[in-house]
Amino acid sequence: MKIISTIKEFRKWRNNLSGSVGFVPTMGAIHDGHLSLIEKSIFSCCNTIVSIYLNPLQFAVNEDLDNYPQNIENDIKILSNYSVQCIFIPSISEIYPQDFSVTIKSGSLANVLEGKSRPSFFSGVTTIVCKLFNIISPSHAFFGEKDAQQLRIIKQLVRDLNFPIQIISCPIIREKNGLAMSSRNQYLSIEKQEIASIIFKSLQLGKKLLINGERTVNVIKNKIINNIKLEPLLTIDYVSIADSKTLKEVEFEIEDEILVSVAIFFDKIRLIDNFTFKI
Ligand code: PAJ
Repeated sequence: MKIISTIKEFRKWRNNLSGSVGFVPTMGAIHDGHLSLIEKSIFSCCNTIVSIYLNPLQFAVNEDLDNYPQNIENDIKILSNYSVQCIFIPSISEIYPQDFSVTIKSGSLANVLEGKSRPSFFSGVTTIVCKLFNIISPSHAFFGEKDAQQLRIIKQLVRDLNFPIQIISCPIIREKNGLAMSSRNQYLSIEKQEIASIIFKSLQLGKKLLINGERTVNVIKNKIINNIKLEPLLTIDYVSIADSKTLKEVEFEIEDEILVSVAIFFDKIRLIDNFTFKI
């Protein structure tokens, strides 16, 4: 397993690769959610490349960049048990030299849901993902449904900017209690993680209503909201039912494929989760 930190060295190494190249971009603090993407890449591609880069551009000043869990040595140790050909771990200045100025924006898809609460988040994501796609030059790239809006925007980015890359979406990996795995879960004690699992359980109640034929947005939303509110330590940022393609809120009756998504604060920690449902 090669560990490379400069673009120049990476490109030199990449020139000698043959066959399909699967790419899994991460911000590190590798957990089973990341590993599921990596396993899928190893299964379906000749080569697998993982990047670890805590991208400052996608954090606002008031967010948790400085406290974001980081343990590169442990990440490398975990990844060495997998058939990963290379880990790309660039420095901040390698990616953003001092006079860096061009960024990528994704229009209306980025202004709703996560983008509403975190206005510069998605331009940070699309800029780093474009840069990494240009550096790594993969044939396939793997993204988790845990970050459903990110996945939707990356698919649009690849189409709109003509990247010859197949985007592969991977299902959400959860703790036994249902809590979606996330690097940020490390901020929560086991007891708090147990409390936070009510987020998934509330989404499940909404899904059950849909399966039983309920189609009125507010009925489903209220079921989810009221169940989350049973836990006083949680604060709701949003509970959304949106068209899964346009990400526009559905107002009354559900007709097509929807993305039901939530963002919840536990103290200052922001947790997201979702499911999609097709009528
Ligand atoms: P990060 O949060 O490290 O996640 C890296 C990838 O792992 C993303 O595609 C994310 O959706 C996926 N992932 C995280 N938790 C998951 C889970 N429980 N189940 C399935 N997949 C999961 O997302 C980012 O980093 C960054 O925004 C990045 C794309 C690397 C750009 O900086």
